[in-house]
Amino acid sequence: MQELIREARRLRADFPLLSQRHPSGHTLVYLDNAASAQKPKVVIDTFGRIFSTCYANIHRGIHWMSQDTTRLYEEARVTVAEFIGAASEAEIVFVRGATEGINLIAQGLRRILFQPGDEVVVTQAEHHANIVPWHLVAQEVPIRLRPVPLTPEGGLDLNQLRSALSAKTRLIAITAMSNVLGTEMPVAEVARLARQQGIPILVDACQAVVHHPIDVQKWDIDFLVFSGHKLYGPTGIGVVYMRAPWGEKLPPYQGGGDMIRQVTWEASVFAPPPAKFEAGTPPIVEAIALAEAIRYLGRRVGWDFIQTYEAYLTEYAEACLHSVEGLQLYGTARPKGAIWSFNIADIHAHDIGTLLDSAGIAVRVGHHCAQPLMEALGVPATVRASLAFYNLPEEIDRLVHTLQRASAFFAPAY
Ligand code: ALA
Repeated sequence: MQELIREARRLRADFPLLSQRHPSGHTLVYLDNAASAQKPKVVIDTFGRIFSTCYANIHRGIHWMSQDTTRLYEEARVTVAEFIGAASEAEIVFVRGATEGINLIAQGLRRILFQPGDEVVVTQAEHHANIVPWHLVAQEVPIRLRPVPLTPEGGLDLNQLRSALSAKTRLIAITAMSNVLGTEMPVAEVARLARQQGIPILVDACQAVVHHPIDVQKWDIDFLVFSGHKLYGPTGIGVVYMRAPWGEKLPPYQGGGDMIRQVTWEASVFAPPPAKFEAGTPPIVEAIALAEAIRYLGRRVGWDFIQTYEAYLTEYAEACLHSVEGLQLYGTARPKGAIWSFNIADIHAHDIGTLLDSAGIAVRVGHHCAQPLMEALGVPATVRASLAFYNLPEEIDRLVHTLQRASAFFAPAY
């Protein structure tokens, strides 16, 4: 274990922000990784390197700078395709983030799939990004969401999911890992059910993609989305995987430059996917920097380390959190990623968040863009601590120590 901790310390040095101090002078403890992860220097440097060497717009220029940048952008697509096990880079669409990705898919399916009365089966653990786009569809075609309740431990019961499926089910759209509870959903089993019944399946992999390898072909899924900024890459870049031939079937989401084959005053003929979905100048350097983040993870960090070390941190953190008087943890189902949501007695989550911040500890508090899940848990908000491979056991100790102080400080109130 000591060797793993030493390795985490070495990797931590790749992230300049982690050596910053809180304005109060405290050493920073960053436990808000599920909201957004910090960036290694190789990702930060990509921006300076591209903008000061070969930067130009892509797919449009005959000059060498445009050619070079186009090559790097298209290589980034190949890197992403290999990272998630896609059959071809043509199945990878770059968007601004996972939210835009789900909206793109939802609006495309609205036009080719949904009929009034259709249902989209989701879990109770969905982020608003996998709820609101379907409400927008419902404003045009009256479809409805069919949420599958979670078990008391926060897991997904496949029998419950099975009984939610019916002749009206047109799509299954599930998170692979809850951003609130950390629960990993049984995606492969859900996909098998979907396949047996001829229902397409969309997976929100925003959290899962950070904690374990993903293979879209092994999962046997139709769509997958994730954001770059949680995967140690930049903001403003996200990925949509659409298994062929969905790219051919879905209409474009936006129109403009670079997504056409021919335009006349009367009509446009669209380019083949993925260009068809990338209207306008895309987030060029962001895509290249995302590929850099993926290479960093593969070559410098490695999944073996991430999975072994995060499993250790998860066990350690959970044992320590149990020592805090009055702490209630939400979501104990296994397998689970390094994310914990909790409250302490009836202390408001925002009070705990403020106290933690004053001690230099960054967590997220609130509903975590999952209000229906909060309703199911019967709370308005939780405190959420989420870890990355660069976090250290002593940071968990600092968190727990400060929570113990919070619990004792507010004790007279409960
Ligand atoms: N979806 C991100 C979170 O869970 C922002 O915090």
